[in-house]
Amino acid sequence: MARLPILRYPDPRLHTVARPVASVDERIRRLVDDMLETMYEADGVGLAATQVDVHERVIVMDTSEPRDRAVVLINPEIVARSEELKVSEEGCLSVPQIYDKVERHARVTVRALGRDGQPFELDAEGLASVCVQHEMDHLLGKVFVEYLSGLKRDRIRTKMLKKTREELRGE
Ligand code: NI
Repeated sequence: MARLPILRYPDPRLHTVARPVASVDERIRRLVDDMLETMYEADGVGLAATQVDVHERVIVMDTSEPRDRAVVLINPEIVARSEELKVSEEGCLSVPQIYDKVERHARVTVRALGRDGQPFELDAEGLASVCVQHEMDHLLGKVFVEYLSGLKRDRIRTKMLKKTREELRGE
């Protein structure tokens, strides 16, 4: 397994729309394993392939505590969503140290293929529901900060660009 570099907002590649996975083969399983290692190392609860610059519909997540229940979603589709909405605080490995409130469906049911290529359904609520919706947005090229006001987004963009410049200079 290998850790993959995570794209940081406002990298334009984060706005790429991912294509469906054609077949769950060795290449995809390796991607899944690398994404899991990357997510756990970064202490994240979810990671979309988009964030590691692979534009195929693959998500890994683990919202369990202790973090020992990895969920792999390949070609995920939401098949049911609650009318009830819920606001919660979100963060993102592509937007480090930024947290803000986003409103989402309280519960969703997702149909996807697992790492073994077999279809399954996941009923998600709480953090898992937030995470699924957040990661599926990534596959559509959408980052959670796009739900925030233009003013907040501009501030975050400036902050992230500054952080990236500082890192490039080795500060
Ligand atoms: Ni994210």
